[in-house]
Amino acid sequence: MKKKVLVIYFTQTGQLNRAVKATLAPFENNSEVEIYYEEIKPKTPFPFPWSYMQFFDAFPESVQGVPCELQPFTFDTSIHYDLIVIAYQPWFLSVSIPINSFLQTAEAKLLLKNKNVVTILACRNMWLGAQEKMKIALVGLQANLVGNITYVDKSSNLTSLVTVLAFALGGEQGKLWGVFPKYGVSDKELKERAPLLGTIVLKNLLGGNYNNQQKDLIEAGAINIKPNLLLMEGRGRALFPLYANYISKRGTSGTAERRTRVRIFGIVLPTGILLLSPIITIVSRLAPILFPSKIKKEIDYYSNNNLR
Ligand SMILES: Cc1cc2nc3c(=O)[nH]c(=O)nc-3n(C[C@H](O)[C@H](O)[C@H](O)COP(=O)(O)O)c2cc1C
Repeated sequence: MKKKVLVIYFTQTGQLNRAVKATLAPFENNSEVEIYYEEIKPKTPFPFPWSYMQFFDAFPESVQGVPCELQPFTFDTSIHYDLIVIAYQPWFLSVSIPINSFLQTAEAKLLLKNKNVVTILACRNMWLGAQEKMKIALVGLQANLVGNITYVDKSSNLTSLVTVLAFALGGEQGKLWGVFPKYGVSDKELKERAPLLGTIVLKNLLGGNYNNQQKDLIEAGAINIKPNLLLMEGRGRALFPLYANYISKRGTSGTAERRTRVRIFGIVLPTGILLLSPIITIVSRLAPILFPSKIKKEIDYYSNNNLR
């Protein structure tokens, strides 16, 4: 019998879709596999490009995991899927609202129970917190996370901060002002690395054994965690819930009452990253020298699929 794979995904600009297609190319060409796609669609689409206010107004609900309404799904819960791929992007260090909304549905509960799941992320460069939230959701749904593949923008943190904002707020897809590199995951990586990662998952799907999967994926370059980003995200993850709470106390998504607090956040966040980046980069160069085993332990943990 053919192995059945369901891919659940959401993408605004198609970046994640390209990453998924490139990773799963070996599946498409394999006669032993049947692959189904389910695009998660919010009832009210999120804007693209975002206005400045719309972008930062999505922050509290992203961090607090407040779901949005979704369009009906088309997948068949009576089919036994051998593998479910959840492809998503982080929004404000959390699972993006559409995918997080899906994880909270009754259909997800039915679909994911006792299923093997592989997650695929394509984002700027900060996904550790989102994946922790994903791990917690999957444990709650009694699903088994058997693999995680990540694609990030390899530019420096400050460069990708500028290019992601130009991309999300201005729709700028090319080289900003002819100086900055193009935002996003490189085509080269998707062409060269992605099919190798997909081949590992395909082999394990057909063999029915995922014991060494994450180890093999890591060796093939599926995970790339830099100490400075690890430390930077740690700061954000500690502070974001406090600030999300501060904004949402004033009102729900899009309400006028919270606009001032959203606007302040829209200034504080990029400024904070700008100021903290150089300091954290210095600390992160020292940290592996001063605390080598602690940094290594953290990188090992986030590279793997267990939840502590
Ligand atoms: C509201 C919002 C918040 C984002 N927050 C993060 C983040 O915390 N970390 C990150 O690496 N990328 C972040 N990104 C970038 C996305 O992960 C992703 O790269 C981008 O939205 C394009 O993906 P898509 O077209 O597949 O949806 C954010 C994007 C948006 C729109």
